[in-house]
Amino acid sequence: VKVPQTLNEPVYNYEVGSSHRQLLKDAIKKIKSDKIEIPLIIGGKEYKTNNKVEIRSPHDHSELLGYYYKASKDEIALAINENLKAAKVWSKFDFSERAAIFLKAAELLSTKYRYIINAATMISISKSAFQAEIDSACELTDFLRFNVQYMQQIYEDQPYSPKGIWNIMQYRPLEGFVFAAPPFNFVSISGNLPTAPAIMGNVTIFKPASSSVYAPHIFMQVLKEAGLPDGVINFLPAQGSQIGEYIFSNPYFAGLHFTGSVETFHNMWSNIAKNIPLYKTYPRIVGETGGKDFIFAHQSTDKKALITSIVRGAFEYQGQKCSAVSRVYLPKSLYNEIKDDLLHEIDKIKMGSPEDFRNFMNAVIDKEAFEKISSYIDYAKNSSQATILKGGKCDNSIGYFIEPTVILTDNPQFKTITEEIFGPVVTLYLYDDAKYEETLKLCDQTSPYGLTGAIFAQDRAAINLAMEKLEQAAGNFYINDKPTGAVVGQQPFGGARASGTNDKAGSLLNLIRWTSARAIKENF
Ligand code: ALA
Repeated sequence: VKVPQTLNEPVYNYEVGSSHRQLLKDAIKKIKSDKIEIPLIIGGKEYKTNNKVEIRSPHDHSELLGYYYKASKDEIALAINENLKAAKVWSKFDFSERAAIFLKAAELLSTKYRYIINAATMISISKSAFQAEIDSACELTDFLRFNVQYMQQIYEDQPYSPKGIWNIMQYRPLEGFVFAAPPFNFVSISGNLPTAPAIMGNVTIFKPASSSVYAPHIFMQVLKEAGLPDGVINFLPAQGSQIGEYIFSNPYFAGLHFTGSVETFHNMWSNIAKNIPLYKTYPRIVGETGGKDFIFAHQSTDKKALITSIVRGAFEYQGQKCSAVSRVYLPKSLYNEIKDDLLHEIDKIKMGSPEDFRNFMNAVIDKEAFEKISSYIDYAKNSSQATILKGGKCDNSIGYFIEPTVILTDNPQFKTITEEIFGPVVTLYLYDDAKYEETLKLCDQTSPYGLTGAIFAQDRAAINLAMEKLEQAAGNFYINDKPTGAVVGQQPFGGARASGTNDKAGSLLNLIRWTSARAIKENF
């Protein structure tokens, strides 16, 4: 059996007057009027607990969208039991049966559920229509389709058998359950973390981020309708610290699939390490954390492409991407040439509710994010080493709005150039044109992260030098393009250093972590 060859899901642009736009608007209306109550889903059954949490739009404090429930220790224990029960059935599913379920899920997501999941993404985590489309509709669909192909490629990899012997590699699921803990900012990551292990025959506990439960819950409906057996993925919103404690002290904990902060990843890893003697098997740890992603420009660059990439890379989805541009290195001569045009482009940015499709930027996710980002802006405002060139206004009277902000500093170790902010703030550092190589080294050594970065140059020697000096600085490296927006199947995503284990989401390298192979030899 061969799974069909796949291509990337086409992106709709929701142009004025199109039927797609109308369908999306209708779906937004439904999301706003439904006042949903999102239950836990364990073994296919729905549960409501005493811990009920409000869901509000980040861009409008008065917009109550509904509620979700958080698991207590009883539901966490039940979910692990149901996972282990389901594992007995799921591990017997042939690869083509599993492929059929996830390919059907991809089909449902990109057709029947496309508008509703995009609408939930727009309204519940404040994403523009375009950003929701490339995330919830396209990237998540791509993850499902491409991962099914990677699964097949893994299974096809079989050892050599000499005459009289048959050698087989059997790609078993892990013995136990996988804990999937995604971030708020991408519904695609939220969907990929539990499904990548499940495609390889594993069962998972899926704990969505507390600030993004709505769209992931819709994805659970997609999986159910596609025929995923009950209990294979249990949906369990919960308090991070509490669920971690129970998950990591269970002997059947067999893997962690995580995307989130460095601090949380460190804590999880320490807890897992402490419990090593408890486990039946050494758990797989796959984690992607943050970034301090850069654009590095050489004087030979195409100025227009550079300006567009700074604006899009830094401010799309309010800079809340681990890949977002947050530091830019510019030669002094070039800065003088592009400064006015760059600031002019930023002036054109409209910000507000995603319901107005003209808004390029919307709100940041919550109060905590708003306060953290504002504090970095205040720090820069109060420092003699920095100038705010643009933006800087933070207003949470209606929603959590932060203007696109550009900081200029002459200190290459300035706080906003070294620490991850996760908001619409970019810091520029100007270097002497003659110090290109020296500044590349500086860029490499400035941050502990190694996620994404880009070189902008037309001069091939300058590109080559950047490739060499920044070899470890970015797991996703772009030449003359913004360092955000990796496409599944095209640019597998992830970074090393403090940014994670670099097991490349959307690639064979990731899927291979979710199998424990058995080598079988038979003599004839
Ligand atoms: N994969 C996302 C991007 O490339 C984070 O922007």
